[in-house]
Amino acid sequence: MSPALKIAIAGLGTVGGGLLKLLRDNAEPIAARCGRRLAITAVSARDKGRDRGVDLAGMAWYADAAEMAARADCDVVVELIGGSDGVARRVVEGAIAGGRHVVTANKALLAHAGAALARAAEAKGVVLAYEAAVAGGIPVIKILREGLAANRVQRVYGILNGTCNYILTQMRRSGRPFGDVLADAQKLGYAEADPSFDVDGVDAAHKLAILAAVAFGTEADIEGVHVEGIRHVGALDIRFAGELGLRIKLLGIARMTEFGLEQRVHPCMVPLETPIAHVEDVFNAVVVEGDFVGRVVSEGRGAGAGPTASAVVADLMDIARGRAAMTFGVPAGSLARVPASPMDRHRGAYYIRLMVRDRPGVIADVTAALRDQQVSLESMLQRGRSPDEAVPVVLTTHHTDEAAMRRALQRIEALDTVLEPPRMIRIESL
Ligand SMILES: NC(=O)c1ccc[n+]([C@@H]2O[C@H](COP(=O)([O-])OP(=O)(O)OC[C@H]3O[C@@H](n4cnc5c(N)ncnc54)[C@H](OP(=O)(O)O)[C@@H]3O)[C@@H](O)[C@H]2O)c1
Repeated sequence: MSPALKIAIAGLGTVGGGLLKLLRDNAEPIAARCGRRLAITAVSARDKGRDRGVDLAGMAWYADAAEMAARADCDVVVELIGGSDGVARRVVEGAIAGGRHVVTANKALLAHAGAALARAAEAKGVVLAYEAAVAGGIPVIKILREGLAANRVQRVYGILNGTCNYILTQMRRSGRPFGDVLADAQKLGYAEADPSFDVDGVDAAHKLAILAAVAFGTEADIEGVHVEGIRHVGALDIRFAGELGLRIKLLGIARMTEFGLEQRVHPCMVPLETPIAHVEDVFNAVVVEGDFVGRVVSEGRGAGAGPTASAVVADLMDIARGRAAMTFGVPAGSLARVPASPMDRHRGAYYIRLMVRDRPGVIADVTAALRDQQVSLESMLQRGRSPDEAVPVVLTTHHTDEAAMRRALQRIEALDTVLEPPRMIRIESL
């Protein structure tokens, strides 16, 4: 057997702890598959006294993770601290500068600094691997960069945040509003005490920026992602979606358009017949559409100690076998900088929900605002009648420009019979 691959781990929390256990429990099959052992030589976290559930004897302890990355006796540094800057970035940069391979689960760092880090890694001849950063246990980076490498990707999209998918699933099953379901998810440990990164779509945007970089050979462009979270999705919208044969999912979607790279994260209504409509609870799914392969769908757990550690170890095993893929699938120097396609240029179908005063002429005013912007209606639903009271009216449109849709909505909101700002959810053709 070849000499062991020596690994230093920065961060021993959820993912780092899972990694310690996986490397201990599956040491034999991993060594058999790599032809060498994976040996942890050094670790770093904040609290030396905390029980990590695994014996750390024989591993050098570093109070300073950046110092470990620069000096420890290792071939690979695994960064599992998190954050787009600060210590995590120093760990990754220091490891690369010292000629060590890097494996990380840090989507925020890759989304913000992926291209610069890829160039640094390439210049030093080391691997920068990050399978765990996107969709946890689903090996989507490998699928895109290797299995589907022969294709031009036409579109990549997915359910990239398990917390949001769990909340939307529970809202649909229980009929309860967002706030109540979020509070339950927090009690169950499916949502953080501060849930904003998840429910406001930021986490999904990080993952989408990385996916788009690999799919289209571009520099990761987090600033170019249009982001909306799920806070404004109402229980009523979920019910109406069901009546329309649709289901609401928070999707991240990227595709190349004539105006540039379109990257968007927002709630979508998707047809019940599409596979992604049935990806429920905390599960993630990623769909790649390639010109020769067609549609490839992968589903699995997008977070948690086990699935994320599984992805980290797959990267370590590639390094142990001497298999090095280019960070974003093309030489770092040729990653393209592509303008972001503005959301106003988006074309699609829309679901609009209004709360209107039930009075003659209301619908005529609404449809006139749509007609004046050339927005063509596909259907209209009105439930319940109670003269002069607030009633919901739901409209769906044919494909139209987002800019025209927004202009029409501004006019509709200004009508005195429209009692709340209109709710708009995009209907996605998948
Ligand atoms: N959790 C998931 O399911 C998941 C899934 C995919 C990707 N990720 C990514 O994986 C990374 C780690 O996430 P996590 O959930 O495992 O985080 P976590 O549970 O909060 O663990 C963070 C670890 O980093 C250590 N740490 C913090 N500051 C440090 C410092 N200055 N020096 C040394 N160690 C420091 C902490 O030490 P102490 O333990 O001593 O406090 C802890 O062990 C993040 O980038 C996250 O986005 C997580």
